[in-house]
Amino acid sequence: MSHYLRIYPDPVLRKKAANIDDFSENLTVLVSDMRRILAEVGGVGLAAPQIGVSKRVILVRMNPMGRVEDEDVRVFINPEIMDATGSRIGEEGCLSIPDVLGEVERSAQVKIRAKDLLGKHLDFTAQDLVSVIFQHEIDHLDGILFTDRMSAAKKITISSQLKQLKKKYQKDRKS
Ligand code: CO
Repeated sequence: MSHYLRIYPDPVLRKKAANIDDFSENLTVLVSDMRRILAEVGGVGLAAPQIGVSKRVILVRMNPMGRVEDEDVRVFINPEIMDATGSRIGEEGCLSIPDVLGEVERSAQVKIRAKDLLGKHLDFTAQDLVSVIFQHEIDHLDGILFTDRMSAAKKITISSQLKQLKKKYQKDRKS
């Protein structure tokens, strides 16, 4: 089955994704499809569930304000937040929730533990916008969307947009 961008309220977006245990498992097709789709839509990050694969794999643009270059997009397997400090509030969007934007409070700095495609251990600290991208993408692996983290008052302002997306999803499934 070919991979395509899943849109809210596709149920795969709410599933807890599975760890990758076996690095001999063929991740190449998954990762290249993720890279292709992220490049097509021009986002700063993508999680495997967003293309219908419930596995703990994310892509992150490490220099999100810079020019879009393939080598800037890095893949992280089984990423975990080991520590989080500070706070920052910023506007977020999500490729799976088109045209919806909203303010979310996040940690300003996170310590990340992950593996690369070869299973090599990675430990590092992410700051500011990159830290937010990691938090947003790791949330996807747990079935959490940025809209879940908006304040109750802000949620009201996007409720009709979410309703429209639900309607469209039902309609597209029937046709
Ligand atoms: Co997202």
